Parts: sequence; structure tokens; C-alpha cells
Amino acid sequence: MSSQDKSEVPEEHLPEVPASAHVPAESDPFADPGLPAHEPRRTDIDEKAANRAERQVAFLFVISMLATIGFIWSYVGIDKDRIIDIFFFGKIGAQNAALGGTLGIALFCIGAGAIHWARTLMTDEEIVQERHEFTSDPETREYAIREFTQGASDSVIGRRPLIRRTMIGAMALVPLSGVVLLRDLGPLPGTKLRHTEWKPGTELINEATGLPIKPDDIVKGSLTMALPEGLVEKYGPAGQKEELSHGWLEKAGMSAVLLVRLEPKDVKSKKELAWGYEGIVAYSKICTHVGCPIGLYEQQTHHLLCPCHQSTFDLADDGKVVFGPAARSLPQLKIHVNEAGNLAASQDFAEPVGASFWERG
Ligand code: FES
Repeated sequence: MSSQDKSEVPEEHLPEVPASAHVPAESDPFADPGLPAHEPRRTDIDEKAANRAERQVAFLFVISMLATIGFIWSYVGIDKDRIIDIFFFGKIGAQNAALGGTLGIALFCIGAGAIHWARTLMTDEEIVQERHEFTSDPETREYAIREFTQGASDSVIGRRPLIRRTMIGAMALVPLSGVVLLRDLGPLPGTKLRHTEWKPGTELINEATGLPIKPDDIVKGSLTMALPEGLVEKYGPAGQKEELSHGWLEKAGMSAVLLVRLEPKDVKSKKELAWGYEGIVAYSKICTHVGCPIGLYEQQTHHLLCPCHQSTFDLADDGKVVFGPAARSLPQLKIHVNEAGNLAASQDFAEPVGASFWERG
């Protein structure tokens, strides 16, 4: 209510101070200030203003009704293939535009009417609702204890220990049926998370060319992605054999490795050199944070960067984490050169690849 409105309020309508709105005593700075005095609105004291507000609310509701009728008509009366050009929106379906517009108006007018009604005509006097005490009175508590004791005595549970113990056993076991139902959530992963498609002697296949990789193919500064031989032939690239594409993706994701060539003098770890071939090392492509594929290599620092949350791994130091949220090093794949002169795995990864999980030792 504006100050001008207040000045027009006749004397007899000046607000009464409710009993709860008492002035706090100066001696008690934390006294409950109570509710502020109620100030009547123009519609509380002027019947004409109240009637006007009523008509405005009714007008909004009528507009809403007309818009709903327009909505129904748009559905049945407008050709759904008709296109119109509306300024700002461009070319859109006439029926969609009409349906959206009329429904929007119908809902808006109901909301606006309700708000206007509440603000002008519904009572706006604030009231205090006293809460009852949380604790029961002493008689009620005594009564409850007496009833409980009587019930326990009537059930003879105190004198029948056999019933008491078997009942406790039954109640303790029954929740186990819920645990059994958890098996419906799907098969347990078993050792699936611990093993990939790499086996001793599996050749590394260049993911881009589909050919076995020779040591000379890996040049300094480049990053080569490789998959185990047989994976592509067995499962087919994603999209070609649709029913198998999910399995292919899962296995490819788990087994993908990155190959880089390092200067042996730059490598800090003897084990890392021993697991590589003349400075060529193979690391899992899957970030150990939450499993994003890693793809950014910084040649000068030998750092691999995960684009998801910026975990950074040092390839010259056993793939250790040098920055970011990942908690463990990138797993290294032990490789050698086979009789055909191609790079091949010496074994599976020695530890699970990808994001950590609860069973990981
Ligand atoms: S998934 Fe690589 S940093 Fe989060």
C-alpha cells in the first residue's frame, strides 16, 4: 500500500494494535516483538475498490477460459502443415504457435488472477499459530507406560522366553530377503573389471590404420592409439554390427592403449623402461579418475593430460599423477617385439584399468 493510500484511510479504520504486538521492554532486549499492526488495504475499506478488484480477477479468469477454447480450436481448426513467419521466431508451424500461445495465456491468466485475488481480496492479516508442547503431560506419559507394561504382561512375553527369542530371530532375519532381491539389479561384474583383452603375445593394432605396429612407426612426439589384435575383426566397428557394438565399445574402451616414444635417458624408472621397447612405452588410455579417454600429450614434459578434470600423468615417471583429482598412476602395458617384428603385449595389465572401484585392492 502506498503512503498516499494510507493518508486516505478514514480515522475509524486506523489499525488496532493486536495484543501480540507489544513493545519490547527496554530491560529485555530479546523480548518477542510480536506481529506488526495490521494495515488495511484500500479494498478492505472501500467497497467500490473491492468490487473493482473482483471484476479484474474475474476478467483474468474469463481471458483464461477464452484462451483454453482457442487452444482446443487451434488443435482441430488449424492445418498442422501450415507454416507462418513470425517476427523474431522466424518460420514455425501455425498450429504449434497457436497451441503454445493460447495455452500460455490460459495458464498465465489463472496464475495472475489468483495472485491478484490473494493480494486484494483475501484476508492479509497475519496470525500467530501457537505450537503445542512437544512433551506430553505427566499423566499422559504415566498412562502410556502403564498401558505398555500391561500389554507386555498380557502378551506373556516375559514368561515365555522361547517365543521372545524366536520372534527376535525372525524379525532380525526377515530384512535379509530384501538383500537377496538386490541380485535383481544385475549380474555381479566378477573379474570383468580386472582383465582386458590383452594376453601374452597379442599384437598391438594401430587404431587408425588397422595394421600391426612396428617400432619404427612410433616416432618421437607422436601419440599412437592401439587396440588388441582380433578385437576389431571379432566384434566389428561400432555401428556396423549393431547387436555387438556395445560389447565392442566396452572391450575397446577397456583395452585401448597409447604409445609414445621417449628418450631412455629421460625415463626415471627402470621398471618402466623394462616394460617398454627401446623407449617405446604403452599406457592405458583410460583416466584413473572417473574413466575419461586421455588424449593430450605434451612432448617436452612427457605429460599426458585428461581433458575431463585435468588430471596430468607423467609418462617419464611410471605414469604417476602430477596434477588433478586422479588418485593412482596410469597402468602400463608390458610390451615386446615379436618374431614378425611387430609390437605385442607381454601380458595383460598388471592392475585394473580405468576408474577406481570399491573392490580394487
Ligand atoms: S576423468 Fe580424467 S581427470 Fe577426471
